[in-house]
Amino acid sequence: MPEIEEVSEEEAGRFERISAHTHIRGLGLKEDGTARDIGDGMVGQKKAREAAGRVVELVKKGKLGGRLILFAGPPGTGKTALAVAIARELGGREVPFVNLSGSEIYSSEKKKTEILTESLRKALGVRLHEKREVYEGEVKSLDIKTGQTGLNPYQQAPSEARITLGTKKEEKTLRLGRSVAASLQSQQVEEGSIIQIDAESGRVINLGVSRDAWEEEKKADISVSPELVDVPTGPIMREREFVSTLNIHQIDSVAAARSAGGLSLFFGGGGTEITDEIRQRTNEQIRAWIEEGKGELLPGVLFMDEVHMLDIEAFSFLNRATEEEFSPITIMASNRGLTKIRGTDYESPHGMPLDSLDRLLIIDTHPYNKGEIKSILKIRAREEDAELGEEALDFLSDVGEKTSMRYAVQLIAPANEVAESRGRKKITREDAEEARRLFISVGDSVEFLKKYEEKMMGE
Ligand SMILES: Nc1ncnc2c1ncn2[C@@H]1O[C@H](COP(=O)(O)OP(=O)(O)OP(=O)(O)O)[C@@H](O)[C@H]1O
Ligand SMILES: [Mg+2]
Repeated sequence: MPEIEEVSEEEAGRFERISAHTHIRGLGLKEDGTARDIGDGMVGQKKAREAAGRVVELVKKGKLGGRLILFAGPPGTGKTALAVAIARELGGREVPFVNLSGSEIYSSEKKKTEILTESLRKALGVRLHEKREVYEGEVKSLDIKTGQTGLNPYQQAPSEARITLGTKKEEKTLRLGRSVAASLQSQQVEEGSIIQIDAESGRVINLGVSRDAWEEEKKADISVSPELVDVPTGPIMREREFVSTLNIHQIDSVAAARSAGGLSLFFGGGGTEITDEIRQRTNEQIRAWIEEGKGELLPGVLFMDEVHMLDIEAFSFLNRATEEEFSPITIMASNRGLTKIRGTDYESPHGMPLDSLDRLLIIDTHPYNKGEIKSILKIRAREEDAELGEEALDFLSDVGEKTSMRYAVQLIAPANEVAESRGRKKITREDAEEARRLFISVGDSVEFLKKYEEKMMGE
């Protein structure tokens, strides 16, 4: 039976937060490791990008050891962006990037070490190669029978199917059960489709429309052009390799759900606790996959933001965890200088204890100039499908320089709304000014509150 996994709300929230960095594809470096002015969505901040490139090389060569990376710099100078870029350089979107903020580990009911462990394991991917027997071919004929599903008397659903598949070499007819019949329907399989059916699990993959079948039909309708696939040549039943990537926490979760028995599926996943024993077993399983050549480990990035919010226990836990065999690259970020280590009375750089400081490679990030802000605004506008006129761009870059770059980026979306409501596709300077007027910056809002402090908070 195919497994179903729900994305927890917590995880869905994390996607949101990364969406501010969707324009970043890598570090934008040349062959020799120096940074282009603009590349892979990254602008300026060259020294930090070059340093990040060296980190990527160390990781790839397995020479990073137990070192921790720290990005230190004021807000909005690209610390998170650089961490995302490192993950992209390590292997594109397949390599996990987990963004955890120091304060988050205290905000939930879970134990903080549990949240840290979970995050570390989410940041480790496994790429699995699996050979499976499949039926593969062009659908020559398809007959799906419907009937009552049993429980709901008013609902008709597929009950079984008969399908004839053909390749250049042979033709075969298969009788398929209810669940396969249902997935044929949901995958919109029809005559002329090229499909794969997993021989064991019955999973259906619709690969596209047969080029031959399409050629015949083309005369009738050329308005739509679907994904065209060549008709397979070999036998219908064959072995195919499938590649899938999971993170280790997902494997833990599936194992926990299994060990809790089938009922856990109905009474919520919340009760399925992942124990140390389960994690141990997952590790063994992964080790076995790797030894048998079925899998590869994809160490991703655990990004710990607001690192000064971590307390002394969290630091010592992280120190230990990052020395284990299965551990991701840990990148931290701080926009604080000297501050108290949480849980102690001592002040320390970035609020970090000495033994963590000792293991750091620190990369500094600096505020952007107007030209760089302009380029970042251009890139973000393209990413958000907004069209910025030259004057609007100039105005927003000015705003970014005087207030903050992030604030200027935030104004793109409302300015676009204003433009649309005024019947424009391209954002003009007036639209950008209106957005600036409607939404004040953090600086403005501090000023404003100071001014009214006495009236607003008067006792
Ligand atoms: N050099 C850059 N090139 C392109 N985009 C960038 C660059 N630096 C930052 N950005 C983008 O600008 C926005 C703000 O940057 P980011 O969130 O990385 O700052 P930060 O240093 O992490 O700030 P904070 O201290 O507040 O967490 C993001 O959308 C980010 O993707
Ligand atoms: Mg950040």
